[in-house]
Amino acid sequence: MSGNLAAILVRVFSGGRCSTSAVVWSLVGCLIMLHLYSLARQKDGVRGELHLGMSHHPQFRELEAVEEENIQMPPPRKRSPRAAKRRPKRPTTIIDEFLDENSQLRNMFFPDHKTAIDPMKDAGNDSSYYHPGRIWLDTDGNPIQAHGGGILFDQKSKTYYWYGEYKDGPTYHAHKKGAARVDIIGVGCYSSKDLWTWKNEGIVLAAEETKETHDLYKSNVLERPKVIYNDKTGKFVMWMHIDDSNYTKASVGVAVSDYPTGPFDYLYSKRPHDFESRDMTIFKDDDGVAYLIYSSDDNSELHVGPLTADYLDVSNVMRRILVGQHREAPALFKHQGTYYMITSGCTGWAPNEALAHAADSIMGPWETMGNPCVGGNKMFRLTTFFAQSTFVVPVPGFPGSYIFMADRWNPADLRDSRYVWLPLIVGGPADQPLDYNFGFPLWSRVSIYWHRKWKLPQGWSGLK
Ligand code: DGJ
Repeated sequence: MSGNLAAILVRVFSGGRCSTSAVVWSLVGCLIMLHLYSLARQKDGVRGELHLGMSHHPQFRELEAVEEENIQMPPPRKRSPRAAKRRPKRPTTIIDEFLDENSQLRNMFFPDHKTAIDPMKDAGNDSSYYHPGRIWLDTDGNPIQAHGGGILFDQKSKTYYWYGEYKDGPTYHAHKKGAARVDIIGVGCYSSKDLWTWKNEGIVLAAEETKETHDLYKSNVLERPKVIYNDKTGKFVMWMHIDDSNYTKASVGVAVSDYPTGPFDYLYSKRPHDFESRDMTIFKDDDGVAYLIYSSDDNSELHVGPLTADYLDVSNVMRRILVGQHREAPALFKHQGTYYMITSGCTGWAPNEALAHAADSIMGPWETMGNPCVGGNKMFRLTTFFAQSTFVVPVPGFPGSYIFMADRWNPADLRDSRYVWLPLIVGGPADQPLDYNFGFPLWSRVSIYWHRKWKLPQGWSGLK
């Protein structure tokens, strides 16, 4: 096909006796062929996956059912005549309602303790169901504290470990205009065989109580911890966002342990490649090479670069990606040789629209495919279901099926932030033309489906 095109162009530019209309029609033909080829490639991929999934696991359909949820905006609140004079009325948005502790919709975003998910109680029909946004209890009956987290699957013990920010302290503002914060307590770790029942393994990296110059001194910031295992050194390596309370230090921190349950020894922090690093994640590829991906240059772009073989530092290779797109909260995964990433916009603790990106090489170029959120209502889709990406876990035995992990931040009381876990499926054509390949979609669509409640496919019984 490209050979045809080249031959025509050679003839045109070499002044061959070929009429203009013949050239135009040949070009149109080439483009149609390219489009059909591109669609066929998409469909093959999709059919292959769904066929595989459907024939072996008909319960896949359960993951695809989409529920509608209608939000009725409460009537506008009365304002005093003085307030009305001071500031002209601005229409209340659903984000305002979300952020307002006294909103009538509060219970919809942050359902109270009565509806908490307790995997230790005989949950009857609700057993194994995820309820995005509800309080989720560990095996001791306490709300899980693993915000901005990530999951490691330990091959040896066949156990999942969920690491995240342990935020069980009071929320306050360090400065009048500073972001809501909780002092560093440490990194919480929970273990599970089924991804639903989680045992608290304790704080595996603790805050520094006394030394004010230490990175982990309580008034600093420790966010988005992620752990990977190094097969060569036999060490568990944790990377995290380290900052001061004003987010000006913009660094990454590294800690290491011989065990998944710690304790982790804190090594150091740095600005990777001498650049600012705020929201970040790490990704271990099939060949054992691990990468650091971080928001940089005032969050205007992301950087990606391989770690050294021991995973304790970055190497000196780095690429800028999604330049000028202002994305954060990266969550990366790989499907059939293609790299995918979900990111959020940059609006502090307030929710915003997610985007999915794809690349043939993790080092880029990365293409932006559009909003992956499906179902719920428009407001749900435009706010990532009132949550922000943190990690994507593959569901073993179900190729193309993943769990999208996100945080529904509660800036009024950060310890009460909720987890929004939803099924993520790769398949179907992307819905936005991309920058190259003549605008024809190259990648499969990434879809995150809203469900008020859902569970993993029936064939999935955990790793017990
Ligand atoms: C958005 C980031 O994704 C979070 O991890 C946290 O840093 C907040 N901003 C703080 O406002």
